[in-house]
Amino acid sequence: MTAVEGVLGQCKALLANLAAAEVATMRDGLPMAPPSRAPAPASLPVLAWLADLPALATPATLPLVTALITAAPDLAWGQTYATDEVPAGFLKGYGWSELVGARGPYASPDLALGFLLLGPDTIYPLHRHAAEEVYVVLAGTAEWRRGRAPFQPRPPGTVIHHPPWLPHAMRTAREPLLALYLWRGGDLTEKSRFSDADET
Ligand SMILES: [Fe+2]
Repeated sequence: MTAVEGVLGQCKALLANLAAAEVATMRDGLPMAPPSRAPAPASLPVLAWLADLPALATPATLPLVTALITAAPDLAWGQTYATDEVPAGFLKGYGWSELVGARGPYASPDLALGFLLLGPDTIYPLHRHAAEEVYVVLAGTAEWRRGRAPFQPRPPGTVIHHPPWLPHAMRTAREPLLALYLWRGGDLTEKSRFSDADET
């Protein structure tokens, strides 16, 4: 089994133990076959924070965090936004990698699974997209905002559901953040749009 295959295996193991209904419907769409693509590996500055993540995980999320750290050099890490679209410094502390979907190693036309990594002291502004989304916090406690609700701390193990187009934001303080995301519906390669909380 390759390191990348190990990541999907640990995703399935973690998601199988989560009771949230939104998780149950999405995990059933995860692929069984081996990877069908090998995207060229690409690194980002934010990967420097990977080493801090195991200490910020829970016993339930640690196996996936460890598998992802092992596979990280083999994955394509990317960024959605250009420098002039985001707050100064954001791109130093931001990156994601898709495991399943329209671009990742595992092809899926209707479901995406990937990982979001934020460094400390990073604000991911309010944004929205057509896809329904589930996040599972894997390591680090950041503050998450959902629609018009205030920012709230979400520790590792938390499941967060965003219906289509609901604006959401995250901000880290001293700890980096690693979260698994699932996307379903809409264009899985859609670029999220920045928004304000009134667009709910
Ligand atoms: Fe999102």
